[in-house]
Amino acid sequence: MRISLEQACHLLLHGDVVALPTETVYGLGASIAFPEAIQKIYAIKGRPSNNPLIIHLHSSASISSFASSLPEGFHALAEAFWPGPLTLVLPIFPETVPSIACAGLPTAAFRIPDHSLTRDLLKICGPLVMPSANLSGKPSATKSEHVELDFGQDFPVLDGGSCQKGLESTILIFRKGAWEIIRQGALAAEHFRSVLGYTPIVNTPTKGSVPLCPGQLYRHYAPKASLLLTKEPTGIVVGFSDRNYPSSSTIFSLGPLKDPALVAENLYSVLRQLDAEGITSAEVDIDFPDYGLWQTISERLHKAARQDVNEM
Ligand code: TXA
Ligand code: MG
Repeated sequence: MRISLEQACHLLLHGDVVALPTETVYGLGASIAFPEAIQKIYAIKGRPSNNPLIIHLHSSASISSFASSLPEGFHALAEAFWPGPLTLVLPIFPETVPSIACAGLPTAAFRIPDHSLTRDLLKICGPLVMPSANLSGKPSATKSEHVELDFGQDFPVLDGGSCQKGLESTILIFRKGAWEIIRQGALAAEHFRSVLGYTPIVNTPTKGSVPLCPGQLYRHYAPKASLLLTKEPTGIVVGFSDRNYPSSSTIFSLGPLKDPALVAENLYSVLRQLDAEGITSAEVDIDFPDYGLWQTISERLHKAARQDVNEM
């Protein structure tokens, strides 16, 4: 159900959950002033309670009321990339963040989204927690229709059009004297070099270790259709509009290889389209470069194709 900005505000300020647009993906928003609304988010999504949420702010001015310290490089990152698809994990004053939002951790994740409607809302309603607006494990929602498909036609959605980035924010944490990427995202690692003077490493959880980003534990981004990743796809193919495939193939196009930003924007829509068309298995073309946004696209596809991780 499409709602106006005023209705979204009213619902949030009365402890309800609404879906909101951001430049990355749609989010399920609740005010941090209403722990019961935050609890509702976990229930609606089917999200494990040990997977914390990102706190979305209107401006970085309020960060010092939550964060107990701001690591070296924080101000440069905030200046360069906020508002935008960057999330920073910071140590918090526990009394300022409801423990349900940060799953009881001594840190919380913060971001300032770059979408005018949601920024207007943040200005009026104050900080909001917002996980991606999809059922846990499924591809994220990049259009309001996707939200309605997952949560029903009556679920309140503030329609802000198609999400321009199409991939979630990049998450950074500061440890051992440097920022590290704990979730790849819409900002590629290379973007940070000119701001930090180094390219942050991508910290990938190893088997048996506790991941720095709890969400990495769970199955993600997966359509019902099973996906086979291959450099020579045939049959039902998720591929690129500027590449040739066998004439007997049915192509679900991600866009042209020459435009990774457009491929990123289309990715979740195409994965969802497979299910909408009743496709049960597809071959995904992974013959693409290994730099920039392609690394995030590759990570999402590998997660979407995995069958061997927790179903949540
Ligand atoms: O682009 C985005 O980031 C979107 C939009 C709506 O802003 N949000 C989003 O939220 O992707 P979600 O809940 O789907 O993913 C948040 C990730 C999870 O993997 C969670 O484990 C991690 O952030 N996270 C949250 N708090 C954390 C913390 N204190 N330490 C480490 N990771 C944290
Ligand atoms: Mg998510």
